Amino acid sequence: MATADLEGTAKALVANGKGILAADETPTTLTKRFDAVKIESDPNSRRDYREMLFTTPDVARFISGIIMQDETIRQKSSTGTALLDLVAKQGIIPGIKVDSGAKALAGSSGETVTEGLDGLRERLKDYRQMGARFAKWRAVIRIDDGIPSSDCVAVNAHALARYAALCQEQDLVPIVEPEVLMDGSHTIERCEEVTGNVLHVTFNALFEQRVSLERMLLKPNMVIAGKQCSQQATVDEVARATFRCLRRHAPASVPGIVFLSGGQDHLAATMNLNAINQLDAPKPWKLSFSYGRALQDEALQVWLGKQQNVQAGQKMYAHRAKCVNAAALGKYSKAMEGKLAA
Ligand code: 13P
Repeated sequence: MATADLEGTAKALVANGKGILAADETPTTLTKRFDAVKIESDPNSRRDYREMLFTTPDVARFISGIIMQDETIRQKSSTGTALLDLVAKQGIIPGIKVDSGAKALAGSSGETVTEGLDGLRERLKDYRQMGARFAKWRAVIRIDDGIPSSDCVAVNAHALARYAALCQEQDLVPIVEPEVLMDGSHTIERCEEVTGNVLHVTFNALFEQRVSLERMLLKPNMVIAGKQCSQQATVDEVARATFRCLRRHAPASVPGIVFLSGGQDHLAATMNLNAINQLDAPKPWKLSFSYGRALQDEALQVWLGKQQNVQAGQKMYAHRAKCVNAAALGKYSKAMEGKLAA
């Protein structure tokens, strides 16, 4: 029987323009990111990287929570403190990714279903005991000719709802992430149509499985043209389409919507979030961020796996966190970018 104040935690995660650092790449994914900038990937270098981010001074002004991965939540810092404790000591809420990844969907070509429900209740208990207060599960929906199929959307929504119900039972705030990928040549209109359908089916599954909407967060993609589409939308078009889609399909009782960056670069992810928040319309939910690449890429490129670059990497991360925090309040301006050195 759940007893914790999950609504309070959900609200705290999106208070005052704050948002979440998604630092939950699996060792395989982080190795790919390291490879791209020629950093050797092993448990120690991954630990050092996370430690750099998690100990960035004063970043709790902009970052409310950090999503960790199973390897990280069990690791100790270079000085012997659990990484989770370093996060909590900063006043940042620790979270944990609990799905085990998107796997090929039987009977379909090119579609996936996210796995990880077996034994989930026990794993959630363990993570909560370690100190996690929220969790994340990512469903992946790809757009192409004839896909997504309705069964792909349905099975992913069903799994998201099963995960979310278990989280609330175990006193963890579920972040429900149905990601419609930016990969492909589809138009922004097609992205809006698919995202709307995915949200509709997902909230229906959440309702059927008695998930309390006040005690969860939604982590969607922005509505955006595919990366290979010849017609790229403007910032204003992305903001309007994203907001319209959410207003149609995300119930007002959800306290916060935290976007993923999904392959947008750090500037696009910052400007689009800002434009959404600047729209002159009533917004029932807080509109904030749970960015992975958009918050980390600049820091990773400065750090390069070298101890002497830790401070410079932290500076880059803190700068981006400050900019996206301003964007979540609709107060970002390009002029902020020049102030990094200060
Ligand atoms: P990106 O912001 O890099 O898309 O990562 C967010 C995330 O958590 C994806 O699951």
